Amino acid sequence: MLKSSLTVLALGVTLASGSALAYQEGDLILRAGAAAVDPQEDSSQLSINGATTEELLGLDSSAGVDSNTQLGLSVTYMLSNKVGVELLAATPFSHTITANIESVGTVEAAEVKHLPPTFSLQYFLLSPESRFQPYAGIGINYTTFFDEEVSADLDAVTQSLGIPGEGSLDLDDSFGFAFELGCDLLIGENLVLNAAVWKADIDTTATFKYDNGTKITADVGIDPYVYMVAAGYRF
Ligand code: NI
Repeated sequence: MLKSSLTVLALGVTLASGSALAYQEGDLILRAGAAAVDPQEDSSQLSINGATTEELLGLDSSAGVDSNTQLGLSVTYMLSNKVGVELLAATPFSHTITANIESVGTVEAAEVKHLPPTFSLQYFLLSPESRFQPYAGIGINYTTFFDEEVSADLDAVTQSLGIPGEGSLDLDDSFGFAFELGCDLLIGENLVLNAAVWKADIDTTATFKYDNGTKITADVGIDPYVYMVAAGYRF
């Protein structure tokens, strides 16, 4: 009786002190879930061979980017019980790029894929013993675009402007800062529920090229919020 009481007491002390729960140096927290990229884009006017549509045609214009959700993966390695380094990765995001031209309207201009790996230094705000682990991070985002495909709709518009043939598209890679807020909720010793949001500085120049040498360009700040909800495991 005394022995079992002591066992219960010891167990209680262990749970209360939470030593089994604590995030600690060397922990690896792996999370998988849905990640959504929600662009907050800010575009220059479209330029044809360096002259804006305003200058050439008297028409305002811009480029737009829609949002997309993919499988997101994030992994944190704890450098101490308060500080971690994190890599965010995902399956390739796919976006529709639109050209918005005054009096023409919104034209689906292209489809493009991108990968935005983001490397962050994270600070966990509460005591390492807490089951609720909110954190803030600062990091670097690298975004690379690929599989750019110009739509037939845009080709019809450019052909009506006297630019022959079909366009091809290239988007410059982007390096920029990223900021992050998130939280882990520990369920038991190893299961983790997670929600996180990043704001990433992603800027690119979109260049549409045509057989006759014409180039249509737009500078686009994509600057998205990236939202993720995930389940994870702490190793
Ligand atoms: Ni930006």
